[in-house]
Amino acid sequence: MEFTIKHGSPEKLKTGTLVVSAFADGQLDKAGKALDKASEGKLSALLGRGELDEKAGSLVTVPDLAGSACDRVMVVSLGKQDEFGEKAWRDAHAAVAKALLAGPSAEAAVCLADIELPGRSVEWALSQLARTIADAAYRFDTTKNVSRSKRTRGVSKVTLVTRNRPTDAMKAAVEQGRAIAEGMALARELGNLPGNVCTPTHLAETAVELGKAYKFKVEVLERKDMEKLGMGSLLSVARGSHQPPKFIVMHYKGGKSSEQPIVLVGKGITFDTGGISLKPAAEMDEMKFDMCGAASVLGTFKALAEMKLPLNVVGLVPTTENMPGGSATKPGDVVTSMSGQTIEVLNTDAEGRLILCDALTYAERFKPACVIDVATLTGACVIALGKIPSGLLANDDELARELVDCGNSAHDRVWQLPMWDDYQELLKSNFADIANIGGRYAGTITAACFLSRFAKAYKWAHLDIAGTAWLSGDAKGATGRPVPLLSTFLLGRCQSRGD
Ligand code: BES
Ligand code: MN
Ligand code: ZN
Repeated sequence: MEFTIKHGSPEKLKTGTLVVSAFADGQLDKAGKALDKASEGKLSALLGRGELDEKAGSLVTVPDLAGSACDRVMVVSLGKQDEFGEKAWRDAHAAVAKALLAGPSAEAAVCLADIELPGRSVEWALSQLARTIADAAYRFDTTKNVSRSKRTRGVSKVTLVTRNRPTDAMKAAVEQGRAIAEGMALARELGNLPGNVCTPTHLAETAVELGKAYKFKVEVLERKDMEKLGMGSLLSVARGSHQPPKFIVMHYKGGKSSEQPIVLVGKGITFDTGGISLKPAAEMDEMKFDMCGAASVLGTFKALAEMKLPLNVVGLVPTTENMPGGSATKPGDVVTSMSGQTIEVLNTDAEGRLILCDALTYAERFKPACVIDVATLTGACVIALGKIPSGLLANDDELARELVDCGNSAHDRVWQLPMWDDYQELLKSNFADIANIGGRYAGTITAACFLSRFAKAYKWAHLDIAGTAWLSGDAKGATGRPVPLLSTFLLGRCQSRGD
């Protein structure tokens, strides 16, 4: 998707589709008023007849509007003026993005960046708009024979029209929105690929290619390297699989060499059968999405490299399948993690934490400024929070607050759950230092408590994306979350330092 910013008279814009907005009472935005004037009242007459449904995101398209240079004008409803807020604003954006990607025009001009939302800047609006439109262009057809590159409709060039002359900050904001959508597209693609294609080896190859394309260092540790490091917990999950496990280490160095890196860790279970504690058959196919944490780390690296952020970031991806088999780990087995702590594997389906804990120990060597892990970790998180926010647990309240703020700004929201010490006793084991499950209660919290035992050396936050990484049913597919949150977090870390 190609974006440009322009200011000036919308009625003179020669483009395919020109998008303006109106409230439910028919009141057009500034660009809409200019078009209306040029058309001698045709547009307002049309709205006056009730052609535009009042629900935010409803659309009406007017071809060949008199006085305008474009092929068609699209008016999007912002809903009732007294109910207007971020939800209506987003519904309008999403509807426009969808329509532009389905419509006949290859080029469009969108006049939505100047709609005022309390507390939000025009740069913020531009970045969100660019991201929404670019993300709407993503299609999955990699494993289809027929529809590949069949898309002939939809925009590929978008002009974002603003009231004021575009500044460098506005251009940068659009570029950020576009870069984030590219990162999301990579995360979505990896998530959507089936388990027989997206193996640990495929994730490792993708990371290596990313490193080559953007010139950052990528290491891939093999089973023997992990054995040497003592990653007995990670390796215990890989025992049932015929696919070799990988441990991917990405080094993005955009900051000073003395600067402590931010470490991102992503769960990369390329298929989770549950292992010997086998999952039921219904919807088991969705466990191909159990590497969406890993995919979001790779996607964030893509966005980060596209934006050329002046930061040091390390990406860690422990990746393996979780399969049953003759040599698979059994319930009751005790394994030794890289930290030295022993773990009683009471349920082989609680495997995410078993691969993450060794990655968290590995992270210590980077003396990180902070560590954020991202994982489709618990079904309990979907029960608690649904598919709206990701779960957030942290050993540092300031870091948690920063992530909550970034999630709100990026509309990739998170909700913090408590991680009080009181929960830790649920993880007691008679046979090891810790058990890998905590019983029926507070499953998301006990999973995070487990991880916290391996994250004592630094500031750490955990994102449980079990509910947010993909959608089910008709819309089944990866969402690309939390790439927007993580990218916004990294952007924030640059800005707070003043560069
Ligand atoms: N990958 C699953 C979590 C999951 C389940 C995410 C369903 C999204 C939808 C994870 O490895 C898992 O199986 N967790 C278990 C933990 C339990 C055994 C303590 C779960 O949530 O049931
Ligand atoms: Mn599992
Ligand atoms: Zn899993």
